[in-house]
Amino acid sequence: MPAHPLAPAWIIVLALAAMPGLPRPGLAQTGLEPGGATAAPPGAGASAGSGAAPVPAPALPGEVPWVIPPSGPFNPETIPVPNAAAIAAWARSAHADAGSEAFSHWNDEGEIPPVCANCHSGMGFRAFHGLDGGSPGPLEAPVQTGGVVDCATCHSPGLADVTEVVLPNGMSHPVPPGEVTCLTCHQGRSSGDSVTAATENMPPDTPNPALSFINPHYAIAAATWLGGHAGLGYQYPGKTYAGRFLHAPPVTTCNSCHDPHSLRVNETACRTCHTTGQSRDIRISRQSHDGSGVTTKGIRADIDANAARLKSMILDYAAKVAGVPVIYDGERHPYFFTDANDDGVVDQSGGRPVAYNAWTPRLLRAAYNWKFVNADPGAHVHNPPYALQLLHDSMEDLAGPLDLDFAALGLVR
Ligand code: HEC
Ligand code: HEC
Ligand code: HEC
Ligand code: HEC
Ligand code: HEC
Repeated sequence: MPAHPLAPAWIIVLALAAMPGLPRPGLAQTGLEPGGATAAPPGAGASAGSGAAPVPAPALPGEVPWVIPPSGPFNPETIPVPNAAAIAAWARSAHADAGSEAFSHWNDEGEIPPVCANCHSGMGFRAFHGLDGGSPGPLEAPVQTGGVVDCATCHSPGLADVTEVVLPNGMSHPVPPGEVTCLTCHQGRSSGDSVTAATENMPPDTPNPALSFINPHYAIAAATWLGGHAGLGYQYPGKTYAGRFLHAPPVTTCNSCHDPHSLRVNETACRTCHTTGQSRDIRISRQSHDGSGVTTKGIRADIDANAARLKSMILDYAAKVAGVPVIYDGERHPYFFTDANDDGVVDQSGGRPVAYNAWTPRLLRAAYNWKFVNADPGAHVHNPPYALQLLHDSMEDLAGPLDLDFAALGLVR
């Protein structure tokens, strides 16, 4: 609890009041009522998934009661703010960061396209799940910009009735109530099936101009976590893949590790089983997956080493087998660019960088998996076996045409 519990609340109220597009239920759910922040009962709108009645939306557009403290001398400390702790934690989290790329990307256009809005705005999320009174399903209309992952995203009555999420490959996955939110937005946008469909019946090592990079999207924790149960990585035919990472009770759900408001990980909880709460230093596996023989570092070290090796194999394959060198630029979509003259600089055409144009099916699969693992900074906790398997199989697949003695690398799947 901060020294001035009210201060963050007023900041949010100011910030929210400045956002024309923010849906009123989101505001109401802060527990603040017009005219003085005292009206809502403690805990209003606060039990996730319990179907509790929402605080009624406050009155009248045009009124700006949100920013005006009660008249007369007052001490902020004495004005109770229901849910102050949740509000303060949330306000400092990425979910509340209206200025981040994830929420401001469409500001110039003023509206978020329907296919993006379900994850990039609380309002879009509610429309997608039919929590706004409409019917659930893909959005038909764009959503105005200005929204974030607001309180009502996770505290809407009706959310408890949503029992499954539909994944990018069309598969439905059952979920317990509190997790529908996280699994909807952190599942990514592509699947191994999209890679298969794009490359079907093509010779594996022949560049095809019809191919372009398929991006798994960002912060895809749920995709990693579900692993082979969802199949959102590119899974090589004939191989088996680890399913959902069950970890160990009680750390089996997103919210058992992440505080749903601050999003921070409860490192103290890790130490009931592991010797450290620093996730990157934790290891259970007694095998060296990266061929180094070192098993004293965290499992993250093996994932990082194998990801680095796969990346160098991708670069080699592009130059030697596809015949056109590639440059990866993590700051710029679509991330893989052409360097046909191999001078180490991305080729330009009409003042714009040339997206990589010599994709072969084999290269696309490996690049998709490499980006998939990198798109989840918590892959080592969310599902280390799945991440290691995808990296291993991608390297094995590239090794053939590169004439590499794969077995000699000593990698363990
Ligand atoms: C299934 C949910 C989902 C959908 C649908 C979705 N996104 Fe995202 N997107 C996310 C999440 C989650 C992040 C946050 C990643 C982060 O910054 O931690 C994100 C991040 C982004 C970013 C910021 C990337 C960066 O480098 O910071 C951009 C840009 C973006 N998305 C564009 C789009 C576009 C364009 C669409 C529609 C064509 C779209 N997204 C649809 C979930 C989604
Ligand atoms: C990303 C989803 C998410 C968002 C956004 C969110 N909450 Fe929560 N909130 C939850 C979940 C899940 C729980 C249940 C936590 C538990 O069971 O430990 C919860 C619990 C609570 C509680 C119960 C006490 C506590 O802190 O655990 C309050 C109060 C609360 N939320 C208020 C808010 C307010 C106010 C906002 C907006 C400022 C907000 N929440 C935004 C998911 C969310
Ligand atoms: C409506 C979509 C949506 C929902 C629901 C949602 N998230 Fe997010 N989440 C996002 C977006 C978008 C970002 C990136 C925000 C940014 O870059 O500021 C993000 C960021 C994060 C981050 C990264 C924090 C950081 O510091 O970079 C974590 C962790 C996270 N979410 C966990 C969760 C958990 C746990 C839940 C469920 C309780 C959840 N999210 C529900 C869309 C969502
Ligand atoms: C066993 C605990 C645990 C579980 C369960 C868990 N996470 Fe994580 N998560 C972590 C840790 C630890 C990190 C890494 C934090 C770091 O080192 O940056 C992380 C990272 C993340 C990130 C990236 C944050 C960033 O810095 O960009 C997101 C997003 C995320 N988790 C969302 C989720 C979602 C959604 C779920 C449920 C599907 C989930 N997590 C389940 C522990 C967990
Ligand atoms: C109740 C005990 C328990 C708690 C609490 C717990 N873990 Fe674990 N953790 C395990 C077990 C058991 C495994 C091995 C699971 C498996 O491989 O199926 C594991 C595996 C891991 C791994 C993968 C190690 C490897 O070599 O593959 C990481 C990373 C990890 N835990 C991080 C965390 C973090 C971070 C937290 C706290 C947020 C946490 N764990 C909390 C029991 C726990």
